[in-house]
Amino acid sequence: MCGIFAYTGKNSKNAGEVLLDGLSSLEYRGYDSAGMFLPESGVVKSTGAVSHLRRKMPAGYFGKSGIAHIRWATHGEPTEQNAHPHKDCTGDIWLVHNGIIENHKELREKLSKLGHTFISTTDTEVLTHLIEEHLKKEKDFEQATLAALREVKGTYGIAVEYVAEPDKIIAARMGSPVVLGLGEHERFVASDASPILKHTSQVVFLEDGEIAVVTPDRHEIFKLDGAKVDRLAEKIDWNVEAAQRGGYQHFMLKEIMEGPEVVKNTLRGRLLEKEGLAKLGGLESVADEIKKAQRMVIVGCGTAYYAGLTGEYMLEEHAGIPVEVELGSEFRYRHPVLNPETILLAISQSGETADTLEAIREGKRRGALTLGIVNTVGSTIARETDAGIHNHAGPEIGVASTKALVSQLTALALLTMFLGRQRSMSIETGQEIARELLLLPEKVQTILDGRGKIEKLAKKYVKSRDFLYIGRKYNYPIAFEGALKLKEISYIHAEGCGAGEMKHGPLAMIDEHFPTMAIAPSDSVYEKVVSNIEEIKARKGPVIALATEGNDEIKDLADDVMYVPKTLEILSPILTIVPLQLFAYYFAREKGYNVDRPRNLAKSVTVE
Ligand code: F6R
Repeated sequence: MCGIFAYTGKNSKNAGEVLLDGLSSLEYRGYDSAGMFLPESGVVKSTGAVSHLRRKMPAGYFGKSGIAHIRWATHGEPTEQNAHPHKDCTGDIWLVHNGIIENHKELREKLSKLGHTFISTTDTEVLTHLIEEHLKKEKDFEQATLAALREVKGTYGIAVEYVAEPDKIIAARMGSPVVLGLGEHERFVASDASPILKHTSQVVFLEDGEIAVVTPDRHEIFKLDGAKVDRLAEKIDWNVEAAQRGGYQHFMLKEIMEGPEVVKNTLRGRLLEKEGLAKLGGLESVADEIKKAQRMVIVGCGTAYYAGLTGEYMLEEHAGIPVEVELGSEFRYRHPVLNPETILLAISQSGETADTLEAIREGKRRGALTLGIVNTVGSTIARETDAGIHNHAGPEIGVASTKALVSQLTALALLTMFLGRQRSMSIETGQEIARELLLLPEKVQTILDGRGKIEKLAKKYVKSRDFLYIGRKYNYPIAFEGALKLKEISYIHAEGCGAGEMKHGPLAMIDEHFPTMAIAPSDSVYEKVVSNIEEIKARKGPVIALATEGNDEIKDLADDVMYVPKTLEILSPILTIVPLQLFAYYFAREKGYNVDRPRNLAKSVTVE
């Protein structure tokens, strides 16, 4: 999740300072490098935080307009060369971009043949050359940008400068947010309102497929087909932090609400629906070794470990490879038996968790092929593994991991297709999983739209001091994760349990004050979970069932029911986890805790 910021003004302000200051409030979106361009003073870029960029700004760096960017790498390493703004061959067109250009390879090839020279390895750079190419024919900056955008597939929030018209910024949006700020003889363009609020509360939100032509006193909005759009400005009264949270009370809620987008971003460009295949560019270099592998060991900690456990069910059932799952903290002290036919897969949002990293290092020493499912590009685990899949989930700020898990489960489903189709999975099964994966964003959205009911349930149960979470098969790990979410932010005792294990001990805890969350989607183990619910009801334990839409019979059994849409059994955890995240969120919020910063916990555990 990169951030863009642009400024054009007719006053004494230095655009360089305005942009630098604005970039600091966009740093929460994640950063590995930053840069800016002022037509009057040129470009400056640096790796690392915005403070590094400040140190590199030459004395007298001044201008009335400019564009700036904070990068969180997706395509291309986090280097100065790959930092934005990017320029065309002439050095007259400069551009910053948040999003992913999906057809960048084809466009790069086409433009290279026409004689364009590329400096970076980013997907973004094709945009500058494409505008340059169209400018040769159109002779008009706006028309050239419009024509270029019509050729692009993917997502973008962009701001473009053309040195021949230095007070003009062109902005456009497709899938990545763009907001315009309207000040007195000054205009702003940004990925969210946080860098704008200091200057003005009057904003206009662009919608997908819109382009804005912005000068200090005017802004005009058009559709990509050139039709003019009239949109009134809105006044927003958020403070900077609220703007960073997109108006949500907490980052955790914002991140849960990003679920549909996160699934889309994890899948983007990776599914060949007709062939029933997953195309994972990050694994291409080791595809043969993966094919030969006899066994897989997955390592992770906390939520990432539960993702791994779910992956075990997916991979064994549909890819036919034996899988074991290990806690990073245990793996390093055992004597794991690994060899070159073993894949050691690390799952980590931050890519910096010390125990998971050490497991990877140990695996390397023992000759295993090391892979990663990592959200943070350029992180140590991403760098040290032989190959891997990036989540593209955007930075996660809430300490409790939510959207990263949704993405990890989606990536594991892709990995299952990748391995499965190399082995025993039929094309029909591959196609079926691919089709259903593409429907998931909408299904996650349905759950999110019904969050009011989950909020009410959380309020109803908020006095409970204990909670049991039960599930079976694919939803066995989800029971543990549901319990982890609740305990880590609401500080009550919550326990996960395989539903079939209840009568081997945990059932003894049940009485009328000890509620159970029973994950019971309509799948191959549904009847079994129902009998486990009956055992609990017979001991007067309150039960909230998490069931599949359309299942009315469960209402007679459970005290309360939350529903998820129907999906394939292998994909059900991607849906069932969402109401559990929402339940934990509302429960902790009702208790009045700081949901984003639970006591005693850190976002990234870089020590043992
Ligand atoms: C729980 C949580 C932690 C992390 C764990 C691993 O909500 O956030 O359990 O999942 O510390 O972190 P990463 O994925 O960064 O390796």
